[in-house]
Amino acid sequence: MFYGCERASERVKKLYEAFQKAWSVETCAPRWREVWSSANNTVGQCSITAFLVQDILGGKVLGIPLEDGTYHCFNEADGAVFDLTSEQFGGRQLDYSAPVEQDRSEHFENADKYARYLLLKERLEAALDTDGANNGRSRVFFFSATGNSLFAAKRIAEKLGVKAEYLCKYDGGKVDAERVVIVSPVYAMGLPVPTVDFIKKLKTKADCILVLTYGGVLMGAKSAACAEAREAGLNVRAVYSIKSVENFTVFFTVPKFYMNRVLKRMPQRADAVAERILAGEAVVPKRKGGRRDSVKMRESWHKMGAKLHSTDACVRCGKCVNVCPAENIELSSSGVVFKNNCIACLGCYHRCPQKAIRFGKHKKKFRYFCPLSDEKEIRN
Ligand SMILES: Cc1cc2nc3c(=O)[nH]c(=O)nc-3n(C[C@H](O)[C@H](O)[C@H](O)COP(=O)(O)O)c2cc1C
Ligand code: SF4
Ligand code: SF4
Repeated sequence: MFYGCERASERVKKLYEAFQKAWSVETCAPRWREVWSSANNTVGQCSITAFLVQDILGGKVLGIPLEDGTYHCFNEADGAVFDLTSEQFGGRQLDYSAPVEQDRSEHFENADKYARYLLLKERLEAALDTDGANNGRSRVFFFSATGNSLFAAKRIAEKLGVKAEYLCKYDGGKVDAERVVIVSPVYAMGLPVPTVDFIKKLKTKADCILVLTYGGVLMGAKSAACAEAREAGLNVRAVYSIKSVENFTVFFTVPKFYMNRVLKRMPQRADAVAERILAGEAVVPKRKGGRRDSVKMRESWHKMGAKLHSTDACVRCGKCVNVCPAENIELSSSGVVFKNNCIACLGCYHRCPQKAIRFGKHKKKFRYFCPLSDEKEIRN
C-alpha cells in the first residue's frame, strides 16, 4: 500500500484505486519506461499524479530531492500527507520530514510531462466514471448568489466525481441518474424561487438529496424543503444542512472573526455531508410542515426588491444585470433600474464592485462573496 494510507481519507483511497486503472507505460516518464511494468506501475508517474490529486482535493504538492537532482512528488491534502506513488521505491524508506513545495508551472514547462498529465487526467476521469462514487450516476445541481452553495456543491460534486451544475440552466429534460443532489441556500426558513422552480421542473426517478446552506436560523427549513420536493413528486432520500456565512446582511455586519470561523469549518462540513451521501444514508426530517411562512415570504420578495436602488457610485458596468438570476435589472441613463421580479437573492447587492447598490436607507458597507468560491463559476 502507499505511504500514508493509514491516515488518508476515503476519497484519497478511492483516487488511488482509480489511478491503478489509469497509470500506464504511456503516462510513465520516458527515462523510466524500461523499468515500468504493471507490477511496478507507480514508477515515473509521481509529479503528474500529485498535480492531479491537487486538482481534485486541493492542498499542496510536495517534493523530496533525489540524487539525480529531480524531486519525488507527493501530496498533503484532506489533513494528511500521503504518497500515492511510493510503492516504486520498494523497501527503501524516503525521508518525508523536510519536503519542498512544488510549483506546477515549473513542472509543466516540460511539454512531454504536460502531455502525460493530460493523458493521465483523461484516463483517471474514465476510471472514476466506471467505478466508485459517481459514474454518471450522480448529478449535483446548485443555486447560489454569494458563493456558499457553489462552494458546498463543488466540494460534494468532487467527492462524487462529477461537476456541479447551475440549476437555473436546467432545460427540463429527463435526468437519468441514480442520485440527484440539490444544493441551495435557505431563504426565510424555506427555499429560494429558482430552487423551487427547478424542483417543480425536475424530471427524474433518482433518489434526491437536498443540501441547504444557511446563515444561522434553520427552524423548519429542512422539513419545508423536503415537503416542497415531495409535493413535486421527487423521491427525497436525505436532507442535510451546512452552516455557512449569513448573506442577508442589509441590516447588520457579520463580524470578521466570526466569518473566518464559519469559513474555516465549511470545508469539513461539506465533506462530512458528502461522506454521508456516499454512504447512501437515508435521513429525512421527522417534523412535517414548516412551509407556510416561507411560502408567504417568497411570494412577497419582489416587494423587498422594490427597496433596492443604485447610488451615484454606480459606473454602469452592467455586472449586476448579468448577476441577477431573475432578469430584474436594467441599465438606465443614471444607474440601474430594478423591475418587479426580484427574488431577494442579494447577488447584485453583494457583488457590485462599487458597492453602489443599497437597500432602502440602510448604508451598511459589509458586502460578501464566499472567498472559497470563484464567482465566475456560478453560471459556468
Ligand atoms: C432572502 C434571504 C433570506 C435568508 N433567510 C435565511 C434564513 O431564514 N435562515 C438562515 O439561516 N439564513 C438565511 N439566509 C442566509 C443564506 O441562507 C446563507 O447565507 C446562504 O449560505 C447563502 O448562500 P449563497 O452564498 O450560496 O447564496 C437568507 C438569505 C437571503 C438572501
Ligand atoms: S454592478 Fe454596480 S456599478 Fe455595475 S451597473 Fe450594477 S450597480 Fe452599477
Ligand atoms: S435584483 Fe438583485 S436581489 Fe433581486 S433577484 Fe436580481 S440580483 Fe437578486
